[in-house]
Amino acid sequence: MGRVAGIRIKNYGSLKDIKMGKLLSDKDGTELSNINAIIGQSGTGKSTLADAFGFLADCLEKGVEVACDLNGRGGFDKVISQGIQDSIEFELYYRETSNSSPITYELSIGLDRTGRPIVQKERLRQRRVKERYGKPLSFLYLEMGKGYAFKGNDTGLYEDSVTEVGEKVNVELADPRQLGIVTLGELKEHPRIVQFKDFLKNWYLCYFSPTSAREIPNAGPQKYLNRLGNNLNNVAQFLHREDPQEFRKVLKNIQSKLTGISKIEPVKLQNGQLVLEFSEEGFTNPFYSQKMSDGTLKLFAYYLLLHEKEPRPLVFIEEPENGLYHKYLTDLAVEMKKSVKGGYSKQLFITTHSPFFVNALSPDEVWVLEKQKDGFSTIKRASEYDHVNALNEEDINLGDLWYSDYFG
Ligand SMILES: Nc1ncnc2c1ncn2[C@@H]1O[C@H](COP(=O)(O)OP(=O)(O)OP(=O)(O)O)[C@@H](O)[C@H]1O
Ligand SMILES: [Mg+2]
Repeated sequence: MGRVAGIRIKNYGSLKDIKMGKLLSDKDGTELSNINAIIGQSGTGKSTLADAFGFLADCLEKGVEVACDLNGRGGFDKVISQGIQDSIEFELYYRETSNSSPITYELSIGLDRTGRPIVQKERLRQRRVKERYGKPLSFLYLEMGKGYAFKGNDTGLYEDSVTEVGEKVNVELADPRQLGIVTLGELKEHPRIVQFKDFLKNWYLCYFSPTSAREIPNAGPQKYLNRLGNNLNNVAQFLHREDPQEFRKVLKNIQSKLTGISKIEPVKLQNGQLVLEFSEEGFTNPFYSQKMSDGTLKLFAYYLLLHEKEPRPLVFIEEPENGLYHKYLTDLAVEMKKSVKGGYSKQLFITTHSPFFVNALSPDEVWVLEKQKDGFSTIKRASEYDHVNALNEEDINLGDLWYSDYFG
């Protein structure tokens, strides 16, 4: 499904200009890993980074004007870095598979003459299929909703030249507050735009809340956990319906990670709902998930997330340690690492304050945000700090190094 090899964010809250991984505008960077943890003191911009990913997904779904107001963002003026009279900009370097040539997506959002947020510029670029080197071609280019796109899989316009390849169509969007990739991503003659839009559409930001997870929702199978995780039982119902035996295996696997739980069973109620019964050591009768502790439910939700069928390509988790016993966190990080290992099917981003979580990670998988004197944050990969790689290779865990102020 693809993964983000690099991202650049400009003028988004405290993130005035940060780069992570490899980009078209910075080829020297190393591509992002399948698991990326973001650490840093309070107020350094971890949640802002998570929200920037959410903002991009919201722009796709609702258009840029609505996205500026969603999730308590408070409008364009509050979102853009304070003191900046420019646009909010994103550059995303994305790769479908290890041998496909990367796609660069650029998006600038500013204000129109009436002061309403608008897409100022949007561009998709990719090198031609048979070329390993050279400048990538723009196969979608829009300014203020007007521009062009090239049909097919291997077409575009050479940068700095007038050579055109393939069929070019002029594009004028009816609503310049919507992203062009939404309109063109519905047309099968633009397969790469379709692919990229589908990738972005399936991003998932999760903020599990045990209180919500305790609600018994309406019956009905649902493929994916929602933002708060309050459709846990519906997802269980989906997995059970798809393959009951496989689902039992998943439950058994999860149960082995939950201390004090001896069995988890799916039980169908008379009204068609499916609930989960947790058997706890020491008790004869099982408890429904509604009665489980906050931490158990949260951990269960994370593990279920890691077992989703056809996983979403990008998952952003904020502070998984909240409400969890600290010793569970290294295991959780290990399981997360296992679930994304190799391949291009799933990529995880996690903000955390927990050295226990970071202990399971390598220096390339950890990013440190630091606030500078001007109030804006910079970001650095843990592997860029002196001594960290060498000490980590000597089996000193990364979280312990962080806790001992070797970095961050
Ligand atoms: N428009 C803006 N321009 C510049 N800075 C901003 C803007 N809006 C908010 N900020 C700053 O950005 C920071 C936001 O921090 P954020 O919530 O992302 O931190 P965090 O790393 O998640 O912290 P915590 O660990 O407490 O969750 C705040 O310090 C705030 O002052
Ligand atoms: Mg935060």
